Amino acid sequence: MTVTRRALLIGLGAAGGAGAMFAAMNVLGLAPGEQRSDFEPPRPSDFALRGKSAAKVVILGAGVAGLTCAYELGKAGYDCTILEAADRIGGRNLTLRGGDQLTETTGEKQIARFGEDVYFNAGPARIAAWMVTLDYCRELGVPIEPFVNGNASAYIYTSGMKAPVRFRTARADMYGHLSELLAKATSQGDLDKLIPSSDKELLLDFLRQFGDLGEKTTYEGSERRGFAAYPGVEAGTALPPPPTLSELLGYRLAPALTFELSADQAMPMFQPVGGMDSIVTALADAVGRDRIQLSSPISKITNLPAGVEITHAGGTIKAGYCIATLPPHLMAKLPGNLDPAVLAALGSAQPYSAGKIALEYGRRWWEQEDRIYGGITETDLDIGRIWYPSHGFHHRRGLMIGSYNFGPDADTYAALKHPDRLEKALIQGERVHGPRHRKDLLSSVSMAWTKRPHIEGAWAYLPPSSALREPAGRVYFAGDWLTHLVAWQAGAFESARHVVTRLHDRVLKEETE
Ligand code: ALA
Repeated sequence: MTVTRRALLIGLGAAGGAGAMFAAMNVLGLAPGEQRSDFEPPRPSDFALRGKSAAKVVILGAGVAGLTCAYELGKAGYDCTILEAADRIGGRNLTLRGGDQLTETTGEKQIARFGEDVYFNAGPARIAAWMVTLDYCRELGVPIEPFVNGNASAYIYTSGMKAPVRFRTARADMYGHLSELLAKATSQGDLDKLIPSSDKELLLDFLRQFGDLGEKTTYEGSERRGFAAYPGVEAGTALPPPPTLSELLGYRLAPALTFELSADQAMPMFQPVGGMDSIVTALADAVGRDRIQLSSPISKITNLPAGVEITHAGGTIKAGYCIATLPPHLMAKLPGNLDPAVLAALGSAQPYSAGKIALEYGRRWWEQEDRIYGGITETDLDIGRIWYPSHGFHHRRGLMIGSYNFGPDADTYAALKHPDRLEKALIQGERVHGPRHRKDLLSSVSMAWTKRPHIEGAWAYLPPSSALREPAGRVYFAGDWLTHLVAWQAGAFESARHVVTRLHDRVLKEETE
């Protein structure tokens, strides 16, 4: 007897109520759940009937991808060794604290002078709720807290403006003006060819609410803009009247007003409590520190007939398989016997620039005076954006990211030495915050990812259908650069899971042969 899906759901609904039915619908893919990939970690029992133990695997790189490969393979007893070029784990998952040193490829050195409990996530710093990264935080016991990505009180500053405008004000004005324009067009019959007349009233009703238009269906400002002085016992004091639509268009607000609409930037977002490196610390602890060899840059990758041989600063290691997670553009330059087509594919990766400048202050003036608690000020200046901390509210000291920029802007800053980067960023930041931006500054550190030894890029783009998702002999590749989640730790996790599954399947298959 076959049971139809419908009969099954009705039966479940009757027996277990709506919850059971909804859960079953989710499994059957009928309810609007957001399922993760159905990854199953390798298990020791997978080998039970095959009479052999797991293979030896050498993993190149102790970033998120490499650590995750070792963590997942370790669950089935694989004998993993991780070789890491730097003297610390994490790769781009880098949290700097007081006393940490930062040396660039040019030899330029900085020392973080931050106070106790102050940290700087120089690499990844936010996690979207749908990302597998949160599943690892849950599994590894890494506590998380909200990361304020969008904040109505933060500013937008573009070169078209006389002064910075709060997000809530810019949004109210843009929604208001656009709604008025569309309402006028609707009422005047300009849209008659585009919408049926039965939709006209519905559209007008929507626009009145969307734009907070008055009875006259015109935009004359709205309390959504915020106040010069907020209401209390007395009524609030209004802001100066809104700009005209023409002025507003000149502000070029689209990038600021839309960034949070993309699925990977929408609130709520999250961060680990105490610093992003809690993730790699927990992974490394689970893997076992004795399996990780630091300060071991790779100098050669060789496929052997039935294994691999990896040469590194500390010697040579042989294993059954290798998982290489180094940045592709650097891996392309490594000697060994990888196929020229593989090296060419690695070399086709385009490294991309990003930079961050951390500014530590003795006073959280942005909370006290601007009433900004977390979130991001967006600018079209070369500093890019300013991030206010999403934690430690009302503490005395606080660390803001005074610049987070990409591409050519990041290159401009990377070309400077730290004191010049700082001065340039402070001049730009003063245009947003005024003299407060410089006063009470205690310390600063800048990260130019193109100058980070052994990494030399914030992230890298590969042509979409890369052959590197297939192993090159016994060498597998893993990293965010092989996924559709470039520049996200989630990409590294997903790639690691993919490779672990493939490698484990191969080992199981080979051992039954
Ligand atoms: N994923 C990186 C960010 O959110 C690029 O800024």
